[in-house]
Amino acid sequence: MTSRFLEACWRRPVDRPPVWVMRQAGRYLPEYRAIRRKAGDFLTLCRTPELAADVTLQPVRRFGLDAAIVFSDILTPLVPLGIELSFTPGPHIGNPIRHPSDVRRLTVPVPWTGTGFLDETLERVRQALDPDTALLGFCGAPWTLASYLVEGTTSRSFTRIKQFALTFPGAFAGLADRLADAMAAYLRSQVEHGAQAVQIFDSWLGTLGREDAREWALAPAVRLFEQLGDLGVPRIYFANGAGHLLDELASMPCEVIGIDWRTGLSEAAAKLGGHAIQGNLDPGVLMGPPEVIRQRTLAMLAQAPRTGYIANLGHGITPDVPVSHMTAFVRTVQESHHA
Ligand code: CP3
Repeated sequence: MTSRFLEACWRRPVDRPPVWVMRQAGRYLPEYRAIRRKAGDFLTLCRTPELAADVTLQPVRRFGLDAAIVFSDILTPLVPLGIELSFTPGPHIGNPIRHPSDVRRLTVPVPWTGTGFLDETLERVRQALDPDTALLGFCGAPWTLASYLVEGTTSRSFTRIKQFALTFPGAFAGLADRLADAMAAYLRSQVEHGAQAVQIFDSWLGTLGREDAREWALAPAVRLFEQLGDLGVPRIYFANGAGHLLDELASMPCEVIGIDWRTGLSEAAAKLGGHAIQGNLDPGVLMGPPEVIRQRTLAMLAQAPRTGYIANLGHGITPDVPVSHMTAFVRTVQESHHA
């Protein structure tokens, strides 16, 4: 049993680049929309292992992807910390963090509890998956999670979180550390139940300049990664919008760096030689005609390193992408061969 995906994470040679897609289980798939209607709301779907496992497997069955990512959300593990979460359909936090005393009321369960549904989903998926298909666990990075906790929803300007970090630096550091420790325990539990690699999504890293990124985002992410070193599974850091941070990313204690489409693939590969690279087709390209998708995918592969490369989009697939366009992307990678 050899997983092309895991081999690439460890920068060992593979016959062709492995491929999977962020948000590969989701609303662009008719079979997802059918189960989503049956479950009612999104959080119920996440918390029902039988349905969540089925949704995880849908894109793998349809496209023959090299990895499955367990179906959940980056915000679901905040509920065991005492956070009131709903999706309408964007995320909404009923009791956002606005003051240092709100940080103190966050309770981190030790040992980790409160997401047993995910453990069961992972076990079900692992049992059903082909042995060569890797199973990924994931979580949000401390900076991205802190942004949601303080803003209360998806933000455009990130003014509340920056105000909080600048006004209460000690409380912000305490919040980031707590989130790092909680997510380390959460990922450990995912690995114990079948995850073979873990991805940390830092979706809002690109909102920060170098100095702030170092202190507010990268240092807490390092703290999280360092607690996972003994697990022996590849650690992936999705560094969204981080073209200006490549020098800093070179020393991240993880195996793979995921980059977005604004970051140059060949430049990232040159600067991050100690890491495998994942990415980075603009998800918007999947709105173009299949022949153009094919050309753009081949152009991306031409810039990719020969070893230590995982094909993916530069961010999540959007709900309006036709299924046949996703097929064009995945097929192009699957039919490519390193000469
Ligand atoms: O990748 C996968 O297929 C696994 C599942 C997954 C979801 N969310 C399912 C989901 C993963 C890995 C995520 C991560 C996530 N969630 C991130 C990091 C990745 C990124 O996009 O930057 C973020 C920032 C979130 C927060 C979040 N969750 C938002 C902003 C939204 C609503 C936005 C929208 O698309 O409407 C969600 C909801 C969500 N998470 C959906 C899905 C399939 C849509 C819910 C629905 O079915 O109505």
